[in-house]
Amino acid sequence: MSKKPIGIFDSGIGGTSIFKEIHALLPNENCFYLADSKNAPYGDKSKDQILQLSIKNTEYLIAKECKIIVVACNTATTNAINYLRENYNIPFIGIEPAIKPAALNTQTKAVGILATKGTLSSQLFHKTTDLYASGIKVIEQVGEGIVPLIEEDKVGTKEMLLLLEKYLEPMLKQNIDYLVLGCTHYPYLIPMLTKMLPSTVKIIDSGLAVAKQTQSVLSAHNLLNDSEAKPNINLFSNGNVAVLNSILDHKFNASFLEF
Ligand code: DGL
Repeated sequence: MSKKPIGIFDSGIGGTSIFKEIHALLPNENCFYLADSKNAPYGDKSKDQILQLSIKNTEYLIAKECKIIVVACNTATTNAINYLRENYNIPFIGIEPAIKPAALNTQTKAVGILATKGTLSSQLFHKTTDLYASGIKVIEQVGEGIVPLIEEDKVGTKEMLLLLEKYLEPMLKQNIDYLVLGCTHYPYLIPMLTKMLPSTVKIIDSGLAVAKQTQSVLSAHNLLNDSEAKPNINLFSNGNVAVLNSILDHKFNASFLEF
């Protein structure tokens, strides 16, 4: 069982920011990644649509005999992970905006969060915010339009710069000192964001934390792969494979798959 792959899915290519952390931390592990780019963005969809897509991806990964599923998507996690955990007998790892460390460490008592509409409107997000960020100003911003641009390989473009300027302005006016990236596509914007933000603003991205959590859950279930063999890394997109390969710097040979 330990040689079975880690299954990872996202609405598209963003979850590769999580896949990269997992592969770096657990280089022996076989991985099976699904980019549901045909249906991206999930962030503008209804809770039920997000749930149905998450079920479809989960069942595909279970059919591929994955030993654990990483929901490498904040939108799918915040809207569907409770249902998935209750209905499928396999460990799930999710990703949620890291409000807690930002709220605990802010000096200015103001933090910014950039995420999708689906994530910011979810009950799970509100629960976490109420729990950890009472007394802190949380400036929520829907990153409308960002995911489609990333899916079109337009990360460093003028169009992206203009969107980011618009979204950061209200946060900077409120004097944030933390910016929480609440979508797995957004770590690809860090080089741009670092140039745009004053040095007093720290960016929080939870990719490494998700990889560590995957490691610890695999270990607890005795599922870590101790084989020294070269791992099988299978990455698939039901949309534009060229963009998936490009975001991975052509280091892995991703393929098209209808799912
Ligand atoms: N990458 C996803 C997330 O973490 C979803 C983005 C989208 O499809 O809207 O939320």
